[in-house]
Amino acid sequence: MANIKEMNFIKDKIKICEKCSLHLSRNNTVPGEGNINSKIVFVGEGPGADEDSSGRPFVGRAGKLLDVMFKDWAKIDRNQIFITNIVKCRPPKNRVPSDEEMNSCGHFLEAQLIQIKPKIIVTLGSTSMKYLTNKTKITESRGKFYDWYSGIKIFPTFHPSYLLRNPSMQKGTPRWYSWLDMRAIGIMIKALNNDKNVEDIVKAVTKIMKDSGGI
Ligand code: URA
Repeated sequence: MANIKEMNFIKDKIKICEKCSLHLSRNNTVPGEGNINSKIVFVGEGPGADEDSSGRPFVGRAGKLLDVMFKDWAKIDRNQIFITNIVKCRPPKNRVPSDEEMNSCGHFLEAQLIQIKPKIIVTLGSTSMKYLTNKTKITESRGKFYDWYSGIKIFPTFHPSYLLRNPSMQKGTPRWYSWLDMRAIGIMIKALNNDKNVEDIVKAVTKIMKDSGGI
């Protein structure tokens, strides 16, 4: 079980952080939110304008699509899982965070993950995938599992912002692959909540993904 005091301590540290220049233009820090005992954690890139003004992750246009992806594709409730980002302050004009910014903020994500102890980390988009796995091609790497530390698996999928720019749901499109990924994530959450072994889940989900043409 994550320690709520420790999670609040991390949140407080994020709030006063001035380690990189992103603090100069922020209105609010966006530490992340959700179920701190979730067995799956979602990691995006960094806050946008709506997140910066509310202090909450994924509440803008991409967040609205992510809500649909949770509810209709994965058949899960957003409150069941924890969502955060690599950087906790908005990069100006929503640019991709620099390596320096990600490296100076990354210890907060690590501290959150040490507390939550998820079994699976879902990376949303290529920035968080690259940061955590060193993989560079999301079209090749999504829908598959990669090892992180302590037996934790990483499962990359597309960022909802990318799906907003690619609205087709036809077979073989990013949205279609994303739908398969989210359906698999729904299966993973149910299995993890039933205390199934993560290695067995990886095997079962990989087979489902292969059989459905997802990978
Ligand atoms: N995009 C992200 O990567 N994170 C957010 O919180 C919002 C948009």
